[in-house]
Amino acid sequence: MTVILEAHNLVKSYPLGGRSVEALRGVSLSVSKGEFVAIMGSSGSGKSTMLHLLGGLDRPTSGEVVIDGVNVSQLNDEQATLTRRDKTGFVFQFFNLIPLLNVAENVALPFLIAGESLGQHRQRVQELLALVGLEDKAAHRPDQLSAGEQQRVALARALAPEPAILLADEPTGNLDYTTGTEILDLIWDSCDRLGQTIVLVTHDARAAAYADRVLVVRDGSIREEIVLGRRRDHEARALIARLAALGL
Ligand SMILES: Nc1ncnc2c1ncn2[C@@H]1O[C@H](COP(=O)(O)OP(=O)(O)OP(=O)(O)O)[C@@H](O)[C@H]1O
Ligand SMILES: [Mg+2]
Repeated sequence: MTVILEAHNLVKSYPLGGRSVEALRGVSLSVSKGEFVAIMGSSGSGKSTMLHLLGGLDRPTSGEVVIDGVNVSQLNDEQATLTRRDKTGFVFQFFNLIPLLNVAENVALPFLIAGESLGQHRQRVQELLALVGLEDKAAHRPDQLSAGEQQRVALARALAPEPAILLADEPTGNLDYTTGTEILDLIWDSCDRLGQTIVLVTHDARAAAYADRVLVVRDGSIREEIVLGRRRDHEARALIARLAALGL
């Protein structure tokens, strides 16, 4: 198994009124190519902080992150931004689409940011829209879509540059049960069919049950690891019950 993402002893402190808040207290992990890892924990446990460091959106106070063989901790800001753009795709809880761009343009955003045109990538954008079932919505603007459709656009956009790793922070947090399931199924498909590596942050046991492996975070540390393996019966009640019993 090729390791695609590594964290070594990550510490993150935030200064707060003369004191400091220790959001992460020494986190180490390793994710294999094609693996689906969920990071689970209650509010304030450090999940988003961890995901931001893993994706190079923020820097650790100490420790190292290695993405696809590149030690991002040793890069300057500009190099780190380029590595992040090349290697990672992000999906957030609040979709973060650009309101003035239509669906196709939003999906093509990573290319537009890189100075390329939608025309150059029209076929890729079509493929992605087909992947998320939005072929007929290419010309819509985000405010003309449902929440679930908006998250599907965000997912297509994150996958557009074929990132080594897809990082998702509570991607179903603003969706109802059925729509959330659709998004989780799409994320799972991109892992199972396309071999996409996934790191998904959630406090929802149902979402975590999609993963091959669940890391449970408490107070800024990984306290437990649950290996589920690749499964197709996501809704398996026994598993969910086991995760729910953790009381997160
Ligand atoms: N910019 C910041 N300044 C100060 N403290 C922060 C900052 N960002 C996060 N924290 C603190 O770090 C801790 C971890 O925050 P984090 O956002 O990672 O939690 P989380 O597990 O993602 O929570 P949630 O489930 O509510 O999103 C919390 O105690 C939070 O208050
Ligand atoms: Mg969070």
